[in-house]
Amino acid sequence: MNTIRIGMFGFGTVGSNIAKILFHHRKEIEKKFPHTNITVKYIAVRNKVSSIEKAKHAGIEISEDIFTENHNDIWNDPEINCIIEVIGGTGLAKDIIYKAIETKRNIITANKAVLAESGNEIFSLAKENNVKIGYEASVAGGIPIIKTLKNHFAIGSVTRIEGILNGTCNYMLSNLENNPLLSYADVLHDAQEKGFAESNPSADVDGWDTAAKISILSSICFSQKIPKTTDFPVEGIANITAKKIADAQKDKKKIRLIASATQQNTSIDIRVEPEEISQNSPFYSVNGADNMIIIHHEYLGQIVLKGAGAGGEATAMSIISDILEL
Ligand SMILES: NC(=O)c1ccc[n+]([C@@H]2O[C@H](COP(=O)([O-])OP(=O)(O)OC[C@H]3O[C@@H](n4cnc5c(N)ncnc54)[C@H](OP(=O)(O)O)[C@@H]3O)[C@@H](O)[C@H]2O)c1
Repeated sequence: MNTIRIGMFGFGTVGSNIAKILFHHRKEIEKKFPHTNITVKYIAVRNKVSSIEKAKHAGIEISEDIFTENHNDIWNDPEINCIIEVIGGTGLAKDIIYKAIETKRNIITANKAVLAESGNEIFSLAKENNVKIGYEASVAGGIPIIKTLKNHFAIGSVTRIEGILNGTCNYMLSNLENNPLLSYADVLHDAQEKGFAESNPSADVDGWDTAAKISILSSICFSQKIPKTTDFPVEGIANITAKKIADAQKDKKKIRLIASATQQNTSIDIRVEPEEISQNSPFYSVNGADNMIIIHHEYLGQIVLKGAGAGGEATAMSIISDILEL
């Protein structure tokens, strides 16, 4: 029996949906994975009372004792062999990942910021300590891109990977297209109100979130270390005006924030920049908060993946797929 005892840090958009899906699909998981036994032992949160309320509100009938404000409940429990980090940020989240490796627990994270910053060291330490790292959720939320690249594209060469990897930016650009009277500030405000953009939206609109994701993808496609996001050109959408959108529309084009990594003779060209997309490109059909990734492979030609690049349920599905692979 593969016994997985989970200690999870965070019960926000992603964390609460992991608990919800594991709870609601417990019987289905038992049936489809009869040799795997999954238990969530603790969920570390900042505020236990509000988290219990949140769980009740979402219809997740888990014991109140699962929630803890004391991280040591997780670290001191010798049965816990899997840490899920869904706190976000690069401070505490990074400490949690390092401690999980040090204490020889497998780790699953949705945190592209930490991986882009410290992934090389994390993967190397994990290997030394024989610890698995699941990070499917760190790029494009619910789209199964990491496993697809590692498994299906393992043989032969990927020549280029390109994508729309930030749902917030795509939502804002689509909104500008559909509502010519709105300004950049209006669509940013709307994205914040709908919960797509953070109150400090810089990571999204300045392109750094997209850059972190293409760094991770590039490292897998081209079997290289995770490139530093400061080592390649990154431009976001902050300079996109309603006029630029209207001018593109006159030429039957759309503006999209595109990340790409392309094999050159002896190097990989990586960039993040807004591009004018014509009607014959698959990217033209990507509207709202969706993501799309196009992989170019020497034998497969062009493979396109499109779907929910963010959102609690979609992202939780990627985490659960990582749990089931342990
Ligand atoms: N949301 C998405 O659609 C999405 C998609 C792909 C990847 N991700 C990644 O997933 C991760 C989590 O994102 P999210 O949207 O779920 O974030 P979130 O909604 O802000 O949730 C973060 C959670 O972490 C908790 N937390 C913060 N500091 C803590 C501490 N010291 N101890 C215990 N818990 C603490 C927060 O508690 P409080 O509620 O008390 O503050 C909250 O429950 C991030 O790395 C993000 O980049 C998210």
